[in-house]
Amino acid sequence: MANIVLFGPPGAGKGTQAVRITESTGLPQVSTGDMLRAAVKNNTPTGIAARKFMDAGQLVPDQIIIDLIEQRINEPDAIDGLMFDGFPRTIPQAVALSKITQVSHVIAIEVPDEKIVERICGRFSCTKCAAVFHDIFNPTKVTGVCDLCGSSEMKRRADDNETTVLQRLAAYHEQTSPLAEWYEQQGILSRIDGDREINQITQDILAALIA
Ligand code: AP5
Ligand code: MG
Repeated sequence: MANIVLFGPPGAGKGTQAVRITESTGLPQVSTGDMLRAAVKNNTPTGIAARKFMDAGQLVPDQIIIDLIEQRINEPDAIDGLMFDGFPRTIPQAVALSKITQVSHVIAIEVPDEKIVERICGRFSCTKCAAVFHDIFNPTKVTGVCDLCGSSEMKRRADDNETTVLQRLAAYHEQTSPLAEWYEQQGILSRIDGDREINQITQDILAALIA
């Protein structure tokens, strides 16, 4: 079983790269952010509990996340491994994951803080296939039409505003970034410069996965 973790600050390009890596590896993308947004939209107990944290740009409590992952990992398509996008984000989440399954590669996508706000504030994504675009850095070829699946239903996220982004960034530095060292000590962390052209980053990630 090959489980991969895509790690990095908000706007690093985790979702952008996940869609491309899924195409190459066949590993399903598991974004805890996407799972939580679906729960909020459907007004489930998880969504109701998570919403206030997400709106404030804070991390959702560990136990809510661990429960979501425990359910997801038992689904049939997880048998050959998963690609986690934005999970784990705290040491307790990583410890919980290590008790359920093994992680083979952690890809840390590194982008300087000063690039994050402009990336997040121009983002939109396809409602149907989750492909991620940017008004300036990664526009669709045809305005309003997804390059990947052709859908014309695009959406912007409720937490993609400057105030919340700065709070998400602070949460990343305080609670999530120490995990990079934790995984580095296990010898499974690859640091990738995420402040480059999207295709170059994909190539480096794929190379790191077979190294
Ligand atoms: P989540 O949905 O995971 O958000 P995030 O970590 O803040 O990361 P983003 O999705 O904003 O960024 P990304 O790295 O995916 O970047 P993207 O590819 O879209 O989490 C949301 C919230 O849910 C959290 O704040 C928290 O409350 C909660 N949560 C989720 N998981 C949790 C957990 N495990 N524990 C606790 N709470 C949790 O790219 C961004 C933009 O940049 C796009 O427009 C893209 O087109 C553009 N772009 C991408 N790459 C490049 C490039 N190389 N050059 C130029 N532009 C680029
Ligand atoms: Mg994302």
